[in-house]
Amino acid sequence: MTTPLHETTLASKPSGDVLAIRGGRPLHGRVDVKGAKNLATKAMVATLLGETASTLRDVPDLSDVAVVRSLLEVHGVRVTEGDEPGALIFDPSDVESAHFEEIDAHAGASRIPILFCGPLLHRLGQAFIPDLGGCRIGDRPIDFHLDALRKFGATVEKLPSGIRLSTGGNRLHGAKIHLPYPSVGATEQVLLTAVRAEGTTELRNAAIEPEIMDLIAVLQKMGAIISYEPNRVILIEGVEKLRGYDHRSIFDRNEAASWASAALATDGEIFVGGAKQQEMLTFLNVFRKAGGWFDVREDGILFRRDGELTPVIVETDVHPGFMTDWQQPLVVALTQAHGRSVVHETVYENRMGFTGALIKMGADIVVHPHGLQDGPRRVPRRDLEQAAVITGPTPLHGADIVVPDLRGGYSHVIAALTATGESKVSGVDILSRGYEKFLDKLTALGADFDVIG
Ligand code: EPZ
Repeated sequence: MTTPLHETTLASKPSGDVLAIRGGRPLHGRVDVKGAKNLATKAMVATLLGETASTLRDVPDLSDVAVVRSLLEVHGVRVTEGDEPGALIFDPSDVESAHFEEIDAHAGASRIPILFCGPLLHRLGQAFIPDLGGCRIGDRPIDFHLDALRKFGATVEKLPSGIRLSTGGNRLHGAKIHLPYPSVGATEQVLLTAVRAEGTTELRNAAIEPEIMDLIAVLQKMGAIISYEPNRVILIEGVEKLRGYDHRSIFDRNEAASWASAALATDGEIFVGGAKQQEMLTFLNVFRKAGGWFDVREDGILFRRDGELTPVIVETDVHPGFMTDWQQPLVVALTQAHGRSVVHETVYENRMGFTGALIKMGADIVVHPHGLQDGPRRVPRRDLEQAAVITGPTPLHGADIVVPDLRGGYSHVIAALTATGESKVSGVDILSRGYEKFLDKLTALGADFDVIG
């Protein structure tokens, strides 16, 4: 079991895990976002399905990407640098079974290993997947994944340290799968398994996030036959063989939205190179209603505050709703809005924990652990909700805080930059999982901080 990132002991020289941040200065400047963490890692797993090499472009330099790269290499995939910065070439021609201890050593704090199941079962007839890591924003079950794999004909054996799967020497076959909830990961699990299963797979109540559609584009380039029907239905006709792909990843919407919220919170102005309007429509509406101003340009989007911040009522949802990954940075800005905002988290059961640090810094936030009672919802209502009621504006003052998870950690840094005085933020290293060159970007935006641990 690897040591969770935030519990790693601090090396003698500053490792970039603890920052002293002096806030109260608006962030001004440009940051460029690369490919989406939540597409690139999946497209890398898809390379296992091809008979020939694949090239993935705009791959972000993130620890989650490094984990998937090392897992692929442990299974015999040769990974080399491509013909442009950020491009990687994956040659799967010598894929073999890895040894358990090697897999476990490389699984890291990532959830992506679960997506290796389908491709390894097709290639090798078996797979071992260690217990998953990932942000502690809920208990992160994988029942949808395992139910789907069983429907494809795999046997699933739970072991103390992970799960072992086998096809029993048979070829996996198509299945009819109806997800209880439009789970992103479970949808990806079905896509990565169905494309080479014998026969047709019908997936109902599928996730349709832009990253899912980009993964479908990758698989179609490989030779897969996938159609996207109305009402979250995806049909996949299994094929015998797939070839490699050449694909440029969709941009990282979560990082773009994070920097936009940073501009709002610090009353700054940030140009996010690579951001595109289409995939951020819902975010842009909320951004404007909260008192933000944005200008969509050819090569990115300019974000800044447009006068006084105004309160909003936001409910997180599956696409095309307001992404759950967007709410934490936005909450920091809402502490400065004139009035009462409500952020209702409906996707994860423990994604408001980060508000504790904001309250310690002076924010007025009340978290209702069981969400808000409201009418019927487009997506089956989940009893795992919670709502934050934020009353502003409240001046934030510096404090010593510890990063809880990826997006909560980003919010802690932005809160420290919004606060007056100095904050000590520990556990910042986890941000390298989702924000490429994070400290360089803070410096480019004029943030006043030192790495002290
Ligand atoms: C992906 O997580 C993203 N991670 C998350 O981003 C994102 O927040 C989430 O999708 C929702 O958009 C990656 O892509 C690596 P889910 P995933 O399966 O696939 C429940 C970030 O910050 N569920 O859509 O794990 C689950 O508990 C991360 O970049 C089951 O109950 O999300 C949750 O309540 C955080 N059983 C809900 O569904 C299952 O088998 C949505 O989860 C699977 C999921």
